[in-house]
Amino acid sequence: MKDEIIKIKEEILAELKKVKESEALGNLETKYLGRKGKLTVLLKQIAGLSDEEKKEIGRLANQTKKEMISKFKEIKSVISGKGEDTFVDVTLPGEKRVLGHLHPVTIVQNELEDLFKSMGFMVLDGPELESDYFNFEALNIPSHHPARDMQDTFYVATPHPNPLPHPQPLSFARRGESKERGQEETNVDQSDMVMRTHTSPVQVRGMLKYGAPLRCVAPGRVFRAEAIDAVHEHTFDQMEGLMVDENISISNLIAVMKELINGIFGREVETRVRPGYFPFVEPGIELDIKCTICNGSGCPGCKHSGWLEILPAGQVHPKVLEYGGIDPDKYSGFAFGLGLTRLAMMKYKINDTRLFNSGDLRFLRQF
Ligand code: PHE
Repeated sequence: MKDEIIKIKEEILAELKKVKESEALGNLETKYLGRKGKLTVLLKQIAGLSDEEKKEIGRLANQTKKEMISKFKEIKSVISGKGEDTFVDVTLPGEKRVLGHLHPVTIVQNELEDLFKSMGFMVLDGPELESDYFNFEALNIPSHHPARDMQDTFYVATPHPNPLPHPQPLSFARRGESKERGQEETNVDQSDMVMRTHTSPVQVRGMLKYGAPLRCVAPGRVFRAEAIDAVHEHTFDQMEGLMVDENISISNLIAVMKELINGIFGREVETRVRPGYFPFVEPGIELDIKCTICNGSGCPGCKHSGWLEILPAGQVHPKVLEYGGIDPDKYSGFAFGLGLTRLAMMKYKINDTRLFNSGDLRFLRQF
């Protein structure tokens, strides 16, 4: 009997060496330690032995059983990855990682940033929670100016119900630059805050910080209290552009805009220019492109007009240059406010703007 116990023990140890996965381990456990398992059955026979033998063999049996149980435990934890020396078969092919997707607006934004950087523009980031001063005042939109109505502003309730312990400087910096640097000029009165309605406040922030000559773009999220439909969202993306130098005229503007449109679509797209009004530009224009979804025949994406307004622009108003600390007698400039979200709609033929913020993976996985 003693020999039999030792034999089974060795058998178990040999089989355990071969086991690589938990199912086989489970089977093995049943085979030996289960209710009808080999070792269990053998140990039951001890009851029929003489007292003398019981003592000696009983001890061996108990010890063996204990040992085997802990051995099974050990191998189980190795197999499930918790053991110290997890077996890694380096010859197996690696598991394929599932990659995420860039959001379509991010793709368009990245492409445009590259395009503008190649034309010598720097990329600026401005705050989404903006002061009334930068969002309106410094853009030649004083309070009570009717143009404020165009913007459907989300005003932020003040005083804040849970005021922050210190006045928070509004971070503003060029990409990759530490935020500390712009703080002097952006430590503004925060009792009058809005969710920025456009990226234009970064024009003035950029001028104050970098002076003239200046070439910059500022992509980012903007917010408006809109009634939401296929072409209107409360949160969407724009990219502001600003170029200030001596002798900058509308023809520079049109050249850059054409470059931009052709760059983003990779082909010539039909455009038209109309006069447009914005208090911070004079003259102001609107550049439309022929709807790339319906090719001009009319669809929900273009409100059945065949055209899409994507690029309001103009010559920077002299007053805005002054707010930016730049001498309007010496310098002139142009600015534009590109609708990034709309551009992504056109580029990818998406006819409902609500899809962008829907978080719907079926939509996002297509990009
Ligand atoms: N900020 C304007 C808007 O969003 C667009 C614009 C930007 C117009 C720059 C002219 C120049 O409504």
